[in-house]
Amino acid sequence: MASLIPPKRPHKVGAPKLSLQLGGAGQSVAHYDEQPSGGDTTIMPAQPICAQSESERLSELQQAVKPRRVSAGESDLMKLSMSQISGGERRGSDDASLTSLNMDDSEMRQDNLEFISHLGDGASGVVSKVRIKSTGQIVARKVISTSPNPAIHRQLLRELNINQTCHSPYIVDFYGVFFDAAEASVVMCMEYCEGGSMDAVYKEVRRRHGRIGEKVLLKVAECVLGGLAYLHSRRIIHCDVKPSNILVTRDGQIKLCDFGVSGELINSVAGTFTGTSYYMAPERIRGQPYTIASDVWSLGVSLLEMASNRFPFPPEGEPFLGPIELLTYITNSPLPQLKDDEARGIRWSRAFRDLVDRCLVRDGKARAGPDVLIMHPAVKRSMQTPNSDIARFVARVWDWDAK
Ligand SMILES: Nc1ncnc2c1ncn2[C@@H]1O[C@H](COP(=O)(O)OP(=O)(O)OP(=O)(O)O)[C@@H](O)[C@H]1O
Ligand SMILES: [Mg+2]
Repeated sequence: MASLIPPKRPHKVGAPKLSLQLGGAGQSVAHYDEQPSGGDTTIMPAQPICAQSESERLSELQQAVKPRRVSAGESDLMKLSMSQISGGERRGSDDASLTSLNMDDSEMRQDNLEFISHLGDGASGVVSKVRIKSTGQIVARKVISTSPNPAIHRQLLRELNINQTCHSPYIVDFYGVFFDAAEASVVMCMEYCEGGSMDAVYKEVRRRHGRIGEKVLLKVAECVLGGLAYLHSRRIIHCDVKPSNILVTRDGQIKLCDFGVSGELINSVAGTFTGTSYYMAPERIRGQPYTIASDVWSLGVSLLEMASNRFPFPPEGEPFLGPIELLTYITNSPLPQLKDDEARGIRWSRAFRDLVDRCLVRDGKARAGPDVLIMHPAVKRSMQTPNSDIARFVARVWDWDAK
């Protein structure tokens, strides 16, 4: 617990307060910015929905990657480099705030990647921290086992390469993808986010009987909405917003990863596709068209989960539900709301509650999109929070100062 106690250095004037609260049952609750301001809630207009079917979206993505030149040689088919795909579109010199990494064809091979440590396992792949031997750069490598069918590899690589044309401070930088024939696997290299996923962060905080506070959660909301708005401008729908796909860098930036149709495709190719995710919006569960507002629902579920230290469906105290009942519950039952926990001194601001409520509007057509919610007063307030505050938070969670 001691590690979650804020460092004993004087606060700068105007710097956000970090304080420790004593929870019930003798537990101390480290709560970041636990004094939310209330009352600055305004009514947000509903956003007109631009409905786009799954097949339209897929064909758009395919159009987007069409001009790519793919030679007939097997190795070229399996290894589409950044230079082939995006040409001059790769970030310009005015983009210095983003990590710059040029991996060319010769660098995109397994024997140029030196394993450092294991970062995590997903349903379809294994993520590791690796060093690019030829440049010394540290990146995250995700390896996904696939079927040996070259046509599937081609499709997978094309869809994954859409990532390389995305450049936003709210999106994890994607460096390249190649096919490792020896292992029959697709290998992706992306920006290494040292703070890990928000899933890992909130579970570590929970393990230490803490709770992530509103200021950090609002920053997560701000950055995810920023990332979704960017993707929307590129006509991409994320489709898999959840805490494990929201990553934090050492300097406190919060970024989205694993977006687009590739997630589903990968899972189906890897044989792990179940067709469902409990973060899916009700319209998606019902098989209706997926829109960018569906991603907003998933953000709402994620915010509730991180705020309450547990997946919010069904609410605490209700009996365990099997997968089908759980999906039925999500589409029909009363929606969970952020609850204060007076005993532990946890009070959420009205603005934050309102933001979560707006994400969790059950009717997809009435739910606001990211470009509307980004103007929400709670999000505007979050824009005043510097990344350095998030960097301090993540350093405390992982005890970096003590190491
Ligand atoms: N770029 C990255 N930098 C640091 N850690 C990462 C990075 N990408 C993924 N991770 C870690 O690896 C874990 C596994 O990621 P992966 O995307 O394979 O699965 P997942 O998102 O956890 O779950 P699922 O497969 O169900 O979507 C993540 O939870 C995260 O902790
Ligand atoms: Mg993931």
